[in-house]
Amino acid sequence: MNRPLNILFTASEVVPFAKTGGLADVAGALPKALAELGHNVVVVMPRYYSIDKSELEHVVGPLGVPMGPMGELWAGVYTTSLPGSDVPIYFIDYEHYFGRSGLYADENGFSYPDNDNRFIFLSKAAFQLCKKIGFKPDIIHSHDWHTAAQPVLRNTRFAFDDYFEESATVLTIHNLQHQGIFFKGVMDVMEVGWEHFNPYELEAMDGVNILKGGITHADAVTTVSRKYAQEIQTLEYGFGLSEHIQAHSEKLFGILNGVDYEEWNPAVDPYIAQRYDIDNIAGKAVCKADLQKRFELPEWDDVPLIGFVGRFAEQKGIGLIAGVIEGLLHLNVQIVMLGTGEKWAEGFFGDIARKYPDSFACHVGYSNELAHVIEAGSDLFLMPSLFEPCGLNQIYSLRYGTLPIVRATGGLDDTIQNYNPADRSGNGFKFEWATHEALYHTVKWAVDTYRFERDAYDIMQRTAMQARFDWMHAAKQYEDLYYYTLYGKRVKNYK
Ligand code: ADP
Ligand code: GLC
Repeated sequence: MNRPLNILFTASEVVPFAKTGGLADVAGALPKALAELGHNVVVVMPRYYSIDKSELEHVVGPLGVPMGPMGELWAGVYTTSLPGSDVPIYFIDYEHYFGRSGLYADENGFSYPDNDNRFIFLSKAAFQLCKKIGFKPDIIHSHDWHTAAQPVLRNTRFAFDDYFEESATVLTIHNLQHQGIFFKGVMDVMEVGWEHFNPYELEAMDGVNILKGGITHADAVTTVSRKYAQEIQTLEYGFGLSEHIQAHSEKLFGILNGVDYEEWNPAVDPYIAQRYDIDNIAGKAVCKADLQKRFELPEWDDVPLIGFVGRFAEQKGIGLIAGVIEGLLHLNVQIVMLGTGEKWAEGFFGDIARKYPDSFACHVGYSNELAHVIEAGSDLFLMPSLFEPCGLNQIYSLRYGTLPIVRATGGLDDTIQNYNPADRSGNGFKFEWATHEALYHTVKWAVDTYRFERDAYDIMQRTAMQARFDWMHAAKQYEDLYYYTLYGKRVKNYK
């Protein structure tokens, strides 16, 4: 038996405390699954303004965080456990950086200009916290650019520190689009030494690229699906880092996310009009009527209803949807969308809703409840992403028997098998090219299958509902990777 590991897990958002996207879902669930495997996990995140201190336990004594020219800054620390577990989570409380309404940007969507300092501060605070609570991590697991400075810090400033000299680092890329590119002066704040400001480590066009440095220094780099690990090595998906990632591809692995079936399961879902499951699917029709009612659409039970939930961002293919939406509505379907983000899209889909009140509805906003209602009440789920590192909604859809229509990219490609009319296999509908034609024809194909090949649709629905992507499966792969990385590191140190 391998010994239990001490794992430091630092993320900029963690469910249920703060969330803008799937990263929070992962950071709230994976540590619990790792703990179930017997490991000691400590989670660290910022104490954002929206997180109520009075519900947390105060950790006595301030935490000193060195910030280069700014000297040592003193933070407060609060703690509690991840719900439903005894995994400790620590909140770094520093009003000046985290006492704001947004996580990364203000109400108008403008990124905070000091995001570099804010997240270098978080990255360093996690190291200092380990010392404060006497936790020597075997594994330092960082996520996205926000904490990608940690592998660099481990190999530089903390390389000969008792607490970290034996730690191995794992960096998970949830989204390569955001890399943390800043003015090079931030090197002084990181305090990792200017010798690391070069094109192989932190430099990118005379600025600092934190994610790039993290990729160079991490002992292992992971993506949240296998396909995405391949894609980011290509020009099309590499966001300028494809060659850099190729150079490090030996330590690059893809581990597909799991989903939380305690929350996303129509048999127990408290938000939906009637619970249902594979053996008793009648409730789904009730959920469809409820969805139509809530979105003020006519309650037509035989018209295919297509749902969308997600950020209104180019990544999610909203430009493609906008281009074909009127054509799709002429297929005699209903479409329901839930999301926020790009202002043009919020306005555009609002206009479409006014023009087609019987067949299209859009809720601009963030609502976990409506997300559940859409998953349960729709017949088909639309997710035509331009790129998708993993994607969670298509996996939720499978569980709810709502067949996904997806573009064959990243985690969408790894989780959805295309319908094959020859043997009626598959769990959804897929297309390759990010074109209006491909999207239109694939939706038409799905709708026709629903209407005219009902047996095939029903078989696929059952296949979809039986699929499982649980966290334990993913956690075991991370566990293997942790041991492999640690072992490799020891061998290297020994040489
Ligand atoms: P990403 O992290 O790129 O946004 P994911 O599919 O990994 O994409 O995760 C998105 C998560 O956020 C899902 O849990 C989804 O249900 C949720 N979500 C996104 N937009 C909304 C919204 N407007 N209302 C409710 N939940 C949303
Ligand atoms: C990112 C990706 C998404 C992924 C999520 C969790 O936000 O855009 O595809 O599911 O991270 O890993």
